[in-house]
Order: sequence, then C-alpha cells, then structure tokens
Amino acid sequence: MGATRVAVVGAGAAGLAAAKALLDHGLDVTVLERSDRVGGLWVRDEPGGTSAAYDSLHLNTSKGRTEFADFPMPAHWPDYPSAAMIAGYLADYADKFNVTERIRFGATVTAVRRTGPVWEVESRDGTSATTAEYDAVVVANGHNWDPRWPSPAYPGAFDGVQMHAHDYRSPDVFAGKRVLVVGMGNSAMDIAVDASYVSAGPVLLSARHGAHIVPKYLFGRPSDATGGALAVLPWRVRQRIAQTMLRLAVGTPESYGLPRPAGGLFQNHPTISDTILHRLTHGEVVARPGIDRLDGGRVVFTDGTAEDVDTIVWATGYRVTIPFLDRDWIGDDPEALPLYQRVFHLKEPTLAFVGLMQSTGAALPVVEAQAKLAAAYLGGRYALPSPAEQRAAVRRAYAAAVRRWGRKRPMMRIDFDQYVTALPREIRAGVRRAAGGAAVHTPTAKAKA
Ligand SMILES: Cc1cc2nc3c(=O)[nH]c(=O)nc-3n(C[C@H](O)[C@H](O)[C@H](O)COP(=O)(O)OP(=O)(O)OC[C@H]3O[C@@H](n4cnc5c(N)ncnc54)[C@H](O)[C@@H]3O)c2cc1C
Ligand SMILES: NC(=O)c1ccc[n+]([C@@H]2O[C@H](COP(=O)([O-])OP(=O)(O)OC[C@H]3O[C@@H](n4cnc5c(N)ncnc54)[C@H](OP(=O)(O)O)[C@@H]3O)[C@@H](O)[C@H]2O)c1
Repeated sequence: MGATRVAVVGAGAAGLAAAKALLDHGLDVTVLERSDRVGGLWVRDEPGGTSAAYDSLHLNTSKGRTEFADFPMPAHWPDYPSAAMIAGYLADYADKFNVTERIRFGATVTAVRRTGPVWEVESRDGTSATTAEYDAVVVANGHNWDPRWPSPAYPGAFDGVQMHAHDYRSPDVFAGKRVLVVGMGNSAMDIAVDASYVSAGPVLLSARHGAHIVPKYLFGRPSDATGGALAVLPWRVRQRIAQTMLRLAVGTPESYGLPRPAGGLFQNHPTISDTILHRLTHGEVVARPGIDRLDGGRVVFTDGTAEDVDTIVWATGYRVTIPFLDRDWIGDDPEALPLYQRVFHLKEPTLAFVGLMQSTGAALPVVEAQAKLAAAYLGGRYALPSPAEQRAAVRRAYAAAVRRWGRKRPMMRIDFDQYVTALPREIRAGVRRAAGGAAVHTPTAKAKA
C-alpha cells in the first residue's frame, strides 16, 4: 500500500498550507489550481478570475497576526503589507516547502465524486478533461470570488453604471462621476475612499446596517495586536474592553454620521479602516441609509431623500460556491455546511475543507491550523472521535455561534484566538485517541489506475 493520495483543490493561502502540511506527513499530494500561479485572491488580475485585488489593497490584519507560524513575514516589512507583497510571500512559501512542484496549474476542478472507496476528481485544462483517483480530497477553493449582488434586486431601474466590488481595480473609473458605494464591509471602505479623491462631489456611502470601524492602529500599535493580548479572556469581556478602547480612541460610528451597529464589536466581521474616518470627517464621503429604490438616474434612500448618481458600486460581499461538489455533499447552502472542527465532512472525513470559515481575525494562521489537523488525520496519526461526538460538537459550536453572531453565517463563524488555540489541542486529543486504540485513517488499498 502506497502513501495516501490527496488532491488539494486550489493554491491560494489555504491550499498551499494544506499541501505543505500533507507533504510534512509524507503523503502523495497533487494540487489542482485553475490559475497560472499560486496566491489566489492576492494576485492582481490572475487569469483564474478569483482575485478582486485593486491598486490600494493592503492587509487589514497586521503582519504579526497574519503570517504563517511556519513562515514569518520579513521583519523589515510594514505592519500592513500590500497585496503584491502578500502574493510574493505566498509564492515564496510554496517554493520553500516544495509545494510548487506538486501543483498542476491551469487545471479547473469540475467534479469531485465518491466512487466506492476512492474519490474521482475531474478537471479541465483548456479543452481536455482528466479524471484521476485519490484517497482524499482537501477543498480549498476560497469563498471570496463569486460576487453577491443584492437578491432580490432593489426595485426600479437604474440608468447609470453598476459594478460589483469584485471588478474594481483602480479609481480612474470614478473620475468626474457621482458615485454611490453600497455596504459597510472592508471593500466598501477602500472603494469609497479611493473614489472620493477623483469623483464629482462627495462619495455617497449607503449602509442598511451599521458596523464598528476599527482603525489599523490603536494607541500606536496594530489594533489586532491588542486583541491578541486579551485572547485568554472570554469574548464578552474582550468585547467590553476593546469597545471601550475604540470609543475612547475614535468615538462611535454615529459620531461620523453612520448607523449605529446592532451588535457589539466582535459580533460581526470586523471593518478595519483609518482612511474612511478621515474622508468622512472631511465631508468627501457622506453616509446615507439603506436604499429604497432605483429611479432612472437617481437613487432613493429609506429616509425618503434622493440623490443623482452615475455609478453604483455594490460592495455587497461574496457567495460561498463549491461548484464541483453536488448537493449530497454540500446540501442546498454551502454556508450552512456542518463540518467537524470546520474541517471534516461529517459523512466522510476523507473530504476535508480548509478555509471554509469566517474568522474574527486573520485567515492565514487559521488555515495553517486547519491544514495541520487535516494532515494529522490523513497521515494516520490522529483519530477522530465517534460520529455521534462529532455531531454533538458541531451542534454546540453552532448554538454558541448563533448566540454570538445571530443568523449571519453562524455555521462558518470562528473566534480567531479561541480557534487557533483549540486546534493544536484537538490534534493532541486525537493522537491520544489513536494511542488508545481508536481507528486511524489508512490509505485506500490500490485503486484502479
Ligand atoms: C479583497 C480581500 C481582502 C482580504 N484581506 C484580508 C486580510 O487583510 N487579512 C486576512 O487574513 N484575510 C483577508 N482576506 C480573506 C482571504 O480570504 C484570505 O486572506 C485568504 O487569502 C483566502 O485564501 P483561500 O486559499 O481560502 O482562497 P483564495 O485566495 O480565493 O484561493 C482559492 C484558490 O482556489 C482556486 N480555485 C477555485 N476554484 C477552483 C477550481 N474549481 N479548480 C481549481 N482551482 C480552483 C483559485 O484559483 C484560487 O487560487 C481578504 C479577502 C478579500 C476578498
Ligand atoms: N484587506 C482589506 O483591506 C480588505 C479589503 C476588502 C475586503 N476584505 C475582506 O474581503 C472579504 C469580503 O469583504 P466585503 O467587504 O467585500 O464583503 P462583506 O464583508 O460581506 O460586506 C458586505 C457588505 O454589504 C452589505 N450588504 C450585503 N447585501 C446587501 C444588500 N442587498 N443591500 C445593502 N447592503 C448589503 C453587508 O451588510 P448587511 O449587514 O446589511 O448585510 C455588508 O456591509 C472580507 O473577509 C473582508 O475582510 C479585506
């Protein structure tokens, strides 16, 4: 029996971390990547269509909290490096850990099927299709590339230009235009700021719900470094401390004319921007409530006011899409897919997911921890708990997430600090289970060629 053969779908941060961890366990790894290079969404204009990277994109989680533990970012880098630097960092990571040579570039995975004891993975490279068999599949296809437009669409018709944040690259498209940006996430902040330097008049920023805005620096340090220092405390205590610090340093969203957030800090995805506060205080970006309807060249807001607009940017986020797995595996809504430890499929743990989560902090340390867990299992060192225990753990995590995040993607939510501390503990628990005789994964007996 040879080493477990694993297909990794995607060579973004998650797929690279998965491949490295699997190689560390001596497994037979093939990475299938639709683009022509590694790095996923950090690579500006890569041909796979994943990336939304624009000129002004930088990390919004600090270098120290974002780097892989196994591959620190250079000490001389700024606290918030550019997208191009992160793309280069990921390419260096792939080279250093011999992942690059395991990647098939230009290979789009079109179907993943369970056939007897193996997985059949179908991929397309230009016009030719290939099917190969693997013992396990790690899904790392990312979830920030399929634009989510308002659904249902707002009533009325709009005569101007409409674009999604995913298609934005540089502010020249806004020169001399009256611009409306919709959303309060990080894309909306960056695009509204960029547009505000070239637009005709102030940029309108429409939000149907409020969000806490955290500057990149608080009290002279990266703001997420403070979160790290408080990590041992329960999240409600962390929330109270961090929210007080934020109020002292920058005030409330309402003081900038923005809607009051419904939940507290850490109860939604963090919106991190210094520059939006500066543009709001200069009147170059102006807050507006939610949209009521579109009316030719005008947009009517829920407070009854209306504005003439040339360009609407829908910075309304992304849908989770896993087009190569059918409903038997991902159900009707991949955002609600239950996974043990946000990694293992409950029906068949040789189907593992890396990166299918929404973190309160950076993504890279999370996918690195997930990759190590998946590899510990597929490498035969870690035994899973019983199916009943797995389901009970998922139910507990879900109930806790609903209490904290409400109905906004509760199944995918993780608390960065709790999670990256918990996964190494889980690996140790699984190694003990294995030592106690619990079944571990072994490679499938030689499958047909
Ligand atoms: C604009 C933006 C800024 C962000 N900024 C930060 C930040 O500052 N800090 C942070 O921690 N996180 C940030 N994130 C979150 C980001 O999702 C993670 O940092 C991380 O890069 C995600 O990596 P990934 O590998 O999961 O996904 P991706 O980077 O999307 O990579 C997925 C890869 O899978 C490939 N792929 C997809 N489908 C297929 C298929 N069918 N067949 C073959 N290959 C396929 C794609 O080509 C791509 O290379 C940001 C996200 C966005 C959209
Ligand atoms: N490094 C960086 O600087 C950077 C830059 C950009 C993005 N990112 C990351 O990329 C990911 C995606 O960010 P994102 O900002 O594109 O998406 P996002 O975080 O999902 O935010 C989408 C925003 O649009 C609003 N929205 C959704 N549907 C709407 C509708 N129909 N009408 C009005 N508003 C609607 C949402 O608010 P509701 O609460 O009202 O739904 C939310 O404010 C995140 O992980 C983010 O951190 C990082």
